[in-house]
Amino acid sequence: MRIQTKTTPAAIQPAAAVVFFLHAEQKPSALGAAFRDINAEEFSGKLGQICVVHTQGKLAAPRALLVGLGQRKELTMPKLRRAAVMATRRLREIGVGRVAFDAGDAGRAGVIAEAAVAAHYDFDAFKPSKAPPKTKLSLATIHVSPGEVRAATTAVQRGGVIGETVNWTKSVANLPGNVIYPAELARRAVALARELRGRLRCRVLDKRALERGGFGGILAVGSGSIREPRLIVLEYRGGSRSPKAKPFALVGKAITFDSGGICIKPGDKMDEMKWDKCGGCAVLGIMRAAALLRLPVNLIGVVAAAENMPSATSYRPGDIVTTRSGNTIEVINTDAEGRVILSDALAYACEQKPEAIVDFATLTGACVVALGHNIGGLMGNDAALRKRIQRASEATGERVWELPLEDEFRDMVKSDVATVKNSTGRFAGTLSGAAFLQAFVDKDVPWAHLDIAGPAWVSDAKPHHERGATAFGVRLMIELLSRGA
Ligand code: BES
Ligand code: MN
Ligand code: ZN
Repeated sequence: MRIQTKTTPAAIQPAAAVVFFLHAEQKPSALGAAFRDINAEEFSGKLGQICVVHTQGKLAAPRALLVGLGQRKELTMPKLRRAAVMATRRLREIGVGRVAFDAGDAGRAGVIAEAAVAAHYDFDAFKPSKAPPKTKLSLATIHVSPGEVRAATTAVQRGGVIGETVNWTKSVANLPGNVIYPAELARRAVALARELRGRLRCRVLDKRALERGGFGGILAVGSGSIREPRLIVLEYRGGSRSPKAKPFALVGKAITFDSGGICIKPGDKMDEMKWDKCGGCAVLGIMRAAALLRLPVNLIGVVAAAENMPSATSYRPGDIVTTRSGNTIEVINTDAEGRVILSDALAYACEQKPEAIVDFATLTGACVVALGHNIGGLMGNDAALRKRIQRASEATGERVWELPLEDEFRDMVKSDVATVKNSTGRFAGTLSGAAFLQAFVDKDVPWAHLDIAGPAWVSDAKPHHERGATAFGVRLMIELLSRGA
């Protein structure tokens, strides 16, 4: 799909369909004669409502889509985004090729562009079928008022890159464990860096390098699988060239499949554990978008990748593992593997003397119990960093909610025989996960942990999202990094 920005009114555009966004206070009849007979039952303007109108020659385009935005004073950009995704999905069902969106201003134009691109995501690579693939729009023209065109052109370009990177991230995250495993994920990171040559650098630590570097946590988790673990390190320097400039570090959990290991999970929904790599995939996506947008920041992305499997070579409950930082871990439960691999990744990130660290991890089922499927848990040692994340979260609609991380929680994870143990009792599972991670972060480094076990993927398809990975974290972090401190 090609996207362009124009100032001519959308209504006179000779497209196959024109899309109007209407608030509940607006009457469709105000748009012209083609909309005179629409009654309130057909279209009331409530959020996400869509009404397809045949314009019968009264408009340049043969079809118009009215898309409800709800009450004007309650509109947020995340709501507009969702409505625009649903509108684009409908256009694809109808088989429209060229569409004109009546956006109004630049802010809306950028959101609509992002949504239109994101609504083109299909995970159909493994569906051999005689049926033709789903239609895609060939051209989207986004119309704004004359004073907005410059800003809108920039916003549309940026929205396009973000939407396309969300799709790229999903297409990696949705690959199953037999197709993508640590070495394959690393290969894709290397390929990405090659594509963005000059902007992105990638280094991969294979099993031998991990052994030499003392990455005992990643090695322990990976030891049960014939797919060897990897540590993927991406670097982007878009900010100060001074050697003293500290990078912003992003750390991701990429368990390409989490069976639970020796403490094997029950079979019900175990297939969803192919998405246990979503944190790491988000980090790859953030690096990709930052490089494409040439954000003026220095970044380092650290992705710990392993497959958690039961076998004769698996790590086992009771094992004591020595990690990169020198801290030791008593393994209580092999299914609490995310924190074990992140121990090494966080320590490695701290060695780079970063300005701040944000980690993304599908860490605990407890976080899904606490916050559900739409909201990530936010914990961290620095109020200013947490605030930045909350603001970016509100702007993008990638929702987070702060959970406490207090000194007393550190006692929970203390072990009699090692520095920390990887599993505690039944209670406060998300908090003890964060408290465990904190043991591997230098005290003077601002750090935030996002437990994205809930929002990382959609189990049951929604009108605005297919079943599968969401790329949660990409839009949030690009927003944060674009805003500056
Ligand atoms: N990847 C899971 C967490 C998870 C569970 C994410 C369900 C999404 C949905 C993680 O590795 C895990 O198994 N955590 C355990 C920790 C426990 C053993 C301390 C959990 O949440 O049960
Ligand atoms: Mn697990
Ligand atoms: Zn896991």
